[in-house]
Amino acid sequence: MSDGQFEVGVTGLQAGHRPDACTLVIFGASGDLTQRELVPAVYELFRQDLLPDAFAVVGFSRSNWSDDAFRERMRVAARTECDFDAASWRQFQERVFYVPGDFTATADYERLKHRVTTIAGAQGCGGNQLFHLAAPPDFFGAIVEGLSASGLARDTRGWRRVVIEKPFGRDLASGRALDARIRGVFREDQIYRIDHFLGKETVQNMLVVRFANPSFEPIWNRNYIDHVQITVGEDIGIGTRAAFYERTGVVRDMVQNHLLQLLCMTAIEPPVRFDGNALRDETVKVLDAVQPLDLARDCVRGQYGPGTTDGAQAAGYRQEANVADDSTTATFAAVKLTVDNWRWAGVPFYLRTGKRLARKLTEVVIHFKPTPHLMFRTPRDRLHANVLAFRLQPDEGIIQTFAAKQPGPGLSIHSVRSSFLYASAFGIDTMPRAYAWLEEDAMRGDQTHFARSDWIERAWTIVDPLTAHWETDRPADFPNYAAGTWGPAAADALLARDGRAWTVI
Ligand code: BG6
Repeated sequence: MSDGQFEVGVTGLQAGHRPDACTLVIFGASGDLTQRELVPAVYELFRQDLLPDAFAVVGFSRSNWSDDAFRERMRVAARTECDFDAASWRQFQERVFYVPGDFTATADYERLKHRVTTIAGAQGCGGNQLFHLAAPPDFFGAIVEGLSASGLARDTRGWRRVVIEKPFGRDLASGRALDARIRGVFREDQIYRIDHFLGKETVQNMLVVRFANPSFEPIWNRNYIDHVQITVGEDIGIGTRAAFYERTGVVRDMVQNHLLQLLCMTAIEPPVRFDGNALRDETVKVLDAVQPLDLARDCVRGQYGPGTTDGAQAAGYRQEANVADDSTTATFAAVKLTVDNWRWAGVPFYLRTGKRLARKLTEVVIHFKPTPHLMFRTPRDRLHANVLAFRLQPDEGIIQTFAAKQPGPGLSIHSVRSSFLYASAFGIDTMPRAYAWLEEDAMRGDQTHFARSDWIERAWTIVDPLTAHWETDRPADFPNYAAGTWGPAAADALLARDGRAWTVI
């Protein structure tokens, strides 16, 4: 293959073709993400026969482990995380290796290069290499430079791609600086900025529902839609991630990426074709139309205090291991924003997310306007307006509500639901792992479901004023919601002020 061929076909969806033989190198292999998501994702692809015939996984991180010690840890993780069977794992682990090393030590990259070349030769993986950066974000720049200095990044004998975890920087300036370092080594078509929400079946399905069905598009605008609510609620706390979370907080962890991507999937204009650039051009335009946040009026922050989740006592954020007693890190955010373009002018989008909320629930709910005239003598406030809810997780599906006549004498109107559930429609109990699809996309060279640098820059531009404001204006009322509730009262007031309320469908 010539070099030129590695540059084409990287932005389109090439469904169905199996990835080229390749070696996946995971930086940060001893970390939580590798155990919880990355290795289970690759193992699931292996079990479904979606990997190339020749492939290898090489973990790289500081822990001084042997291949066998790494395999054993990954086996234990896979048993908890996946549909596991010992026979397929044995076959899989023969292609799993480990190299201990320091992300900043030149000599360690030389060793890594030597080992990757030997493994790729023995396994028949050829020269293609995918580098997944799951290390702490502060090392991303050093890692790509290590790859460059050692010659590992050179793509003369096969393609090179780099997958980078979020958050991509801490703000616009650091995001740009990181981008410059990465682009000093890799071209944009080699860079895969991952947001695992874009790998979720239910998120990808939002596009299919809107653009493969003629019935939604005519009503998908300000004439018919009253407002949109996006909720990403989690019942878990921060677990063992205090060091990361204290530096990151809810806006950088969730809003700047996952929630803004869900906003884009809802508000996007029809792309001319389903390929990476056409789709991503449109998502950038959505963010371009988002108006600056009114920080005092339209943004609510929160931090959980002690409470009860799932019937058990839960500690407050400040009592979590390695969190300061007086931490002002926000674990909850609710914002109202507007997308000022022809389609959405005047339609508020309310976004909320938090840790230790009442339950795990990710939902995009479209609230339609009421009928222009109601001929029935039912009081209007007893009629619920129609909603269309994309239930992204759990109990994945789509639920629509509408008014119906209650059988019986006279006329009594009730709100009823019709539902599509993945479990019954497709017979799926457990949804495919988002990381599996994205890892496979990266191996196939498909950037459609990865964030482009211009999108990331706009996302930082939207949230930077908010994080800066919250960091300088210390909250006086933290903790302001009990674990196991839907967040601070101010989040309810944000909607109540507009005559609305948060809905859980
Ligand atoms: C990650 C965040 O990106 O997404 C975590 O860092 C969060 O804090 C997680 O818990 C939520 O993902 P999911 O797929 O469980 O909704």
